[in-house]
Amino acid sequence: MTVRRLGFRLPPLPNFCTRGRFGVFPAPMTEHTPKKLFIKTYGCQMNVYDSDRMADALAPHGYEPVQVMEDADLVVLNTCHIREKASEKVFSELGRLRDLREERRANGQDLMIGVAGCVAQAEGDEIVRRAPAVDLVFGPQSYHRLPELIARAHNGSKVVDTDFPEEDKFEHLPAARKEVTLARGLTAFLTVQEGCDKFCSFCVVPYTRGSETSRPLEQVLREAQTLAEAGVRELTLLGQNVNAYHGLDARGRTVGLGELCYRLSLIPGIARIRYTTSHPLDMTDELIEMHRDLDALMPYLHLPIQSGSDRILKAMNRRHTVAEYRSVIERIKAARPDMALSGDFIVGFPGETDADFEETMQIVAEIGYASAFTFKYSIRPGTPGAAMDDQVAEPVKAERLARLNALITTQMRDFGRSVVGRTLPVLIEKPGRQPGQVGGRSPYLQAVHMDGPTRLIGQIVPVEIVAAGNNSLTGKIVTVAEPNPASVIESRASAAHI
Ligand code: SAH
Ligand code: SF4
Ligand code: F3S
Repeated sequence: MTVRRLGFRLPPLPNFCTRGRFGVFPAPMTEHTPKKLFIKTYGCQMNVYDSDRMADALAPHGYEPVQVMEDADLVVLNTCHIREKASEKVFSELGRLRDLREERRANGQDLMIGVAGCVAQAEGDEIVRRAPAVDLVFGPQSYHRLPELIARAHNGSKVVDTDFPEEDKFEHLPAARKEVTLARGLTAFLTVQEGCDKFCSFCVVPYTRGSETSRPLEQVLREAQTLAEAGVRELTLLGQNVNAYHGLDARGRTVGLGELCYRLSLIPGIARIRYTTSHPLDMTDELIEMHRDLDALMPYLHLPIQSGSDRILKAMNRRHTVAEYRSVIERIKAARPDMALSGDFIVGFPGETDADFEETMQIVAEIGYASAFTFKYSIRPGTPGAAMDDQVAEPVKAERLARLNALITTQMRDFGRSVVGRTLPVLIEKPGRQPGQVGGRSPYLQAVHMDGPTRLIGQIVPVEIVAAGNNSLTGKIVTVAEPNPASVIESRASAAHI
């Protein structure tokens, strides 16, 4: 991958621009010029987090989010390149947007169209060539420059910015207003690490997100503190390889994910911490011990193995064997026996034989997953897997996927049933579907529905699990703790939901 540095020449300053520390930023709009923003998010949780940060970056410039694409003045597609289908979806959406813009223009109005995320990073100019209606294309490292990019696009030029700039975008992305954070919910994503150096031979992420970087400890703590002050109770720390986190503290010491979780747990209001996605090779002793010692660290771990065959793992360049994965799981279970496990599996990687696939079925049967994501191998141009000879036929992939899914569905159902009769601490997150009901999550990330008052939103209450459905549990609140009036966090959270 070539990493290009900030290479564009800035246009003459338009009169509505101001010069910021790192370039030219349009001045925030006045209240006379509100603009409507619609961001459509594809792909992983990191894109969900990024979409919110883009909205936050544009809010001071007068952009208000709208729920319907047809109402927007600016539509941004925040894209995913991980599999062919994900990436092709973007181009069909761009076709729809082109038609929408034509309708607008016929009525004397306009629509600006932007493409962000991993397809933008991977395809750059090619997007504008294939879909000329697109005004701006920008990669994940440019989100702090979005106001400036929009200003340039307003001047009529097509803007393509897929550089990996030197400045730290997180230092320049504004925080959301408290009401906005709270409206997003009591659980929040927080990106702590980006990029990947592992180069699995099927995967585009090291090319689209660049090499592994970790945010400094204090910067993450500050963001978490702001989230907690707005009422957030649960954080999910994000990274393409989150357990490779190695941020620097104020003294220049390297801090691992375990210590980061501990420091976050000290922030008043933060009751639960999760993280995703992890690589088996980066499950350090420190992190595993934290699962034993830190109550706030939830007993749910997404730890993909991808295949149960050593031969295929080698071809995938996973750099670990099945035995090594098994031993990581044993260490985790020794520290936290009730750990619920989740994974990702790819079927039909080039060269995968029936015997290799049976080994995948075996490891799934042996580990027993609480949930898992399964995929048919998808050829990604530019990755080593794309050049491998022995590609597996589509019907074979489909059959293997169906068998694996059947096994995993059974395991997920069994896991749900295994908690029936137990009393679990449930974080009440929102009103339920029916009046008089509330919804929350168990420590194992299971959705739980139960009768209860909305004033409990934001609290963790003991709930007896009485039934397990396909995707959620039904529970009964055991004792209802009265909300503590001194707790600003809890009362704010409740007020927003009543
Ligand atoms: N960093 C994470 C996963 C990132 S991508 C990890 O290492 O586990 C999410 C998942 O998409 C991967 O775990 C993999 O199962 C799947 N995936 C990635 N590339 C793929 C491809 N070319 N075809 C099918 N599935 C793929
Ligand atoms: Fe992709 Fe492998 Fe990196 Fe995960 S570890 S993001 S699968 S290259
Ligand atoms: Fe997709 Fe990029 Fe995430 S390729 S899975 S959006 S890191």
